[in-house]
Amino acid sequence: MSLSMNSSSSGRTGRASAGIYIHIPFCKQACHYCDFHFSTSLKKKDDLILALVKELELRKDELQHKTVETIYFGGGTPSVLTIDELQVLILAVYKNFEVAAHPEITLEANPDDLMSVRTQSKTIFEDYKNIGINRLSIGVQSFFERDLKLMNRAHNAEEAKVCLEDATHYFDNISIDLIYGIPDLTNKEWIENIETALAFNVPHISCYALTVEPKTALATFIKKGIIKNVDDDLAQAQFHILVERLEGNGFVNYELSNFGKPEYFSKNNSAYWQGKPYLGIGPSAHSFNGDQRSWNVSNNTMYIKSIQQHKLPLEVETLSVTDKFNEYVMTGLRTVWGVSLQKVAQDFGDVYQKHLLQQAEVFINEHLLYIDDYTLLTTKKGKFLSDGIASSLFKINLS
Ligand SMILES: C[S@@+](CC[C@H](N)C(=O)[O-])C[C@H]1O[C@@H](n2cnc3c(N)ncnc32)[C@H](O)[C@@H]1O
Ligand code: SF4
Repeated sequence: MSLSMNSSSSGRTGRASAGIYIHIPFCKQACHYCDFHFSTSLKKKDDLILALVKELELRKDELQHKTVETIYFGGGTPSVLTIDELQVLILAVYKNFEVAAHPEITLEANPDDLMSVRTQSKTIFEDYKNIGINRLSIGVQSFFERDLKLMNRAHNAEEAKVCLEDATHYFDNISIDLIYGIPDLTNKEWIENIETALAFNVPHISCYALTVEPKTALATFIKKGIIKNVDDDLAQAQFHILVERLEGNGFVNYELSNFGKPEYFSKNNSAYWQGKPYLGIGPSAHSFNGDQRSWNVSNNTMYIKSIQQHKLPLEVETLSVTDKFNEYVMTGLRTVWGVSLQKVAQDFGDVYQKHLLQQAEVFINEHLLYIDDYTLLTTKKGKFLSDGIASSLFKINLS
């Protein structure tokens, strides 16, 4: 198919850029730790694809005068879709929006899906490339069987390795997801996981501290004493091991959980963190237009029904100046771009800048924050704690 229809570069046209996120709410099996929105029943897959296409149509005016620079299939597990289904969605984006000449198109994929279509002479990767996907985010989580079982992942360690090996023959822009702070994962094993990931020579790695989300199987198992609780100190130590190893191998920790070689930062996620607008399509997907955040209903049946009736199943929140300030501080402190004191004064006013500097002082004295070139940043020691620090810097609207 041709991906050049309707396309233009925002650099050339001077139009603002935007992203489109498409949520695929299906997974083969439920990982014990996960509270993202997904269903393990694929019965409604066909209706859902039709609804996603319809939602793209219904919302085509929301990115008027903007050029779509990134398309991101997230989940759930987008790799449960067939090539034809993914192509239908990509074509629907091109049909309804102005798309850049060379958009970043990311697919989140799980090793078991990638392996299930592998034969001796064929892998799925060539097909992905042919429909325009140019970035893969592969959910490995760990290369240890014990961890994969504990997390109830649908793949084993060997499948993860084989699929990464295959993927690197077709794609250079690959990201691997890993999880640290897993009960019983020793620092030695964590280093082994990092080294195994590095051996595949991928240019991007996302690493998350295992979080015990309420109402997940993991939370229940921990409560019942079947699985050990996570240890925050161990997670923090493993984060520091990670930063040291990856920075030593040419990666930039450009966001708390994200490490990329220069030129390989996720354009989609960087745009989120820099406050650019994006449209979130699909159940549970969030959108941002610069002033408002909205989120779609987290229920596949309700989503499909509402879209079939030409109604957007979403709730909207208009951000106050204080909300925007707090969000900027939260995301800024997690990223290498930090919190620009000049931007704070310009966009929010001197009162906000004064508040920020006053609240930051204690963290600067503890060497958790520092100021460089009029920008507030977390130190190496402070980075892991950035969310907690950010919330202490928030402005609270009491009126
Ligand atoms: C929502 S998943 C979607 C991608 C894909 N389905 C997968 O499992 O790889 C995105 C990533 O979030 C991370 N994640 C989800 N829940 C988590 C949790 N409770 N703690 C730590 N990481 C989590 C996992 O690393 C996962 O790869
Ligand atoms: S981690 Fe990924 S595969 Fe596992 S349940 Fe969550 S979205 Fe699905």
